[in-house]
Amino acid sequence: MKKIIFLLLIIFCRFVVNAQQVNTLKLMPAPKEVVQNAGKFRINNKLVISVQSNATDTILYKAVNRTYQALNRKTGLAFGQQYITPLVTSGSASLLLVVKAAANAGIGVDESYGITVSEKQIVLNAPNTIGALRGLQTLMQLVDKDDNGYFSPFVNINDSPRFKWRGLMIDAARHFISFEEMKKNIDAMEAVKMNVLHWHLSDDEGFRVESKLFPKLQADGSNGDYYTQAQLKELVAYAKDRGIIVVPEFDMPGHAQSWFAGYPELASQPGPYRPGPRPQWQKEHPDPNIPKSTSIADMIANMEAPTFDPTNEKVYSFLDKFIGEMTTIFPAGYMHIGADENNGLAWKLNPAIAAYMKQHNLQSTDDLQKYFVQRMYGIMKKHHRKLIGWEEIYNDKLPADAIVHKWIPADNGMIKSFGKASDLAVHNPVLISDGFYLDVFMPAYVYYNNPAFADANSPNILGGEGAQWTELADNNNIDGRIWPRAGAIAERLWSPASVNDVDDMYRRLFLLSNQLDELGLPHISNYERSLRRLTNGEPIAHLQILTDVLTPVKGYRKLMAAMFKPPQATYQTAALTSVSDIVFVDSETKRKFRHLVKLYLESHDKAVEAQIKTYLITWQQNDAALKPLFAGNKRLMEIEDHPKNLSAAAAIGLDALDRIDKGTANDAAWVQQQSGALDALGKAHNETEIAVIPEIGALVTGHLVAEPVTYSAF
Ligand code: ACM
Repeated sequence: MKKIIFLLLIIFCRFVVNAQQVNTLKLMPAPKEVVQNAGKFRINNKLVISVQSNATDTILYKAVNRTYQALNRKTGLAFGQQYITPLVTSGSASLLLVVKAAANAGIGVDESYGITVSEKQIVLNAPNTIGALRGLQTLMQLVDKDDNGYFSPFVNINDSPRFKWRGLMIDAARHFISFEEMKKNIDAMEAVKMNVLHWHLSDDEGFRVESKLFPKLQADGSNGDYYTQAQLKELVAYAKDRGIIVVPEFDMPGHAQSWFAGYPELASQPGPYRPGPRPQWQKEHPDPNIPKSTSIADMIANMEAPTFDPTNEKVYSFLDKFIGEMTTIFPAGYMHIGADENNGLAWKLNPAIAAYMKQHNLQSTDDLQKYFVQRMYGIMKKHHRKLIGWEEIYNDKLPADAIVHKWIPADNGMIKSFGKASDLAVHNPVLISDGFYLDVFMPAYVYYNNPAFADANSPNILGGEGAQWTELADNNNIDGRIWPRAGAIAERLWSPASVNDVDDMYRRLFLLSNQLDELGLPHISNYERSLRRLTNGEPIAHLQILTDVLTPVKGYRKLMAAMFKPPQATYQTAALTSVSDIVFVDSETKRKFRHLVKLYLESHDKAVEAQIKTYLITWQQNDAALKPLFAGNKRLMEIEDHPKNLSAAAAIGLDALDRIDKGTANDAAWVQQQSGALDALGKAHNETEIAVIPEIGALVTGHLVAEPVTYSAF
């Protein structure tokens, strides 16, 4: 009997944190299975790490030493062990790694691992190096602090990814993203177990790699901003050490203006060319048969964009040599050819190309695009690379091992989608970036519940990629644009589909943000520095109270404003230092405030009400506090209306709380009037909006409205 009670007690003390409920753990992405047990393994300066593995596994030993130093910095405990080497093999070390085989990063490599933290020790078991690297990141996130110091909770974790391709695409063409900045992003990717850096290395605006065979590519196509081959190799090795492969993208046949700056003979039209935004943005085309663009849809349809000439054999011999050169730098077995957004106009307007089409019985420019993709497939095959292209490569003749990268949302009203990911996956392996575009400023929860993954059950859906295009991002703000939101994407791609609690995701996302800051990602320090720039070095505290609840307008409205406003297409040279460029898309304050409002409306708890009031009073009073800072500050004029609007909205919230207390909150006329007033106060102003208006509105109506599943991109 005693034994049974003892067993029952043990069962009682253990609770399974299933995929749905990750509880107080701070793990992102959430593991496949976690059992959290009562108790804590204390971490002190006696921590000893020992590794049982293949002693020549340099990637593993480097990763273990990196983790060790990161823990040393995090805890400040000054551990005694100097360096972890194959010579330390004590089975009773406080942290024991048992790793069966050496492995390199790659798609489909086993990434599983298990962690047991008990009274005795922490044990990380992995079948190979890559699983161990993933497990080390989990260990970093397990280490926590209480009044007695640092510890890891007792846990049993059994983890492996849902998808084998968990990528981040960074566009280094629209704005050049520095070598150091790329490293920071790789560090952050490692922290959330992403395994593919998709590097968009050429576009109209710039050609960003050094070619020794074709040096005019970088000499004429980059305005001096490109990566040397030594840098590219160093970055590929840096990623490899972190279990990440690098997939380069060289966009063709369209998005190719920068190639033609040095080699105009490859283009469909004579040129001359220079790297930069497309010349046709917003301008009237000289051909009177082509109407002036008045919308983005027209622009896409009517723009004569610089495009490779697919009928010129010299194009293929050039690309064959170039791809061959790039394989010596990018060893991963994949290359991305872009192939997106080619409307065929540059081909139609060239009589020789039109004649070629006729001669070869090609009915449309779509057929010519198919032909080009087919030729590129052959070149990739020759160089032992799998071809990837955006979904515009998809056609009935596409070889079954070409990878289709889905990006076009269905029913977007602008560009034709080639089908749902699950339909494309019937024929080809598929990657999904539809619904993962970070540059459209969606809150993390929109990516988290990306509907494109609702039926992503085919084994032919390899996974997906967050995508950061950089018309509106540069070295100053890119970290805050990508992180921490990409953590939500990493979790969608790693964790079981059943992990979908938005509130818990946000709890962990902001913890991840702090972890990334601690690792050295400058997303938070860039934000604060940018605020100081706006105040000309004056204290930022009051400005930050405001900007912490401002978010950029969602969708492409900000980009469209940059493109359509004269002078046109200057997004490449504009300083990305305005408030809308630097505020985070997800306001942590909003999420905290929303949580309080939800609690309060459910409970009318006085302590919660007091916390809400503290926020509201701070916002109400902040307008007056900001007046001296705003006076004469031209740069702050872009958000001139927000302080008084936030103050007025906060006053409405305080009035609502008073009325709830007095029992007069359900006066219908008052509710209608105040709701209307809040709508007006919440209007976007110069591409930023106040994020807490819906929550203040909930105090007025008594109902917290569910957030939209998504927002219009246009
Ligand atoms: C794309 O966004 N044009 C792939």
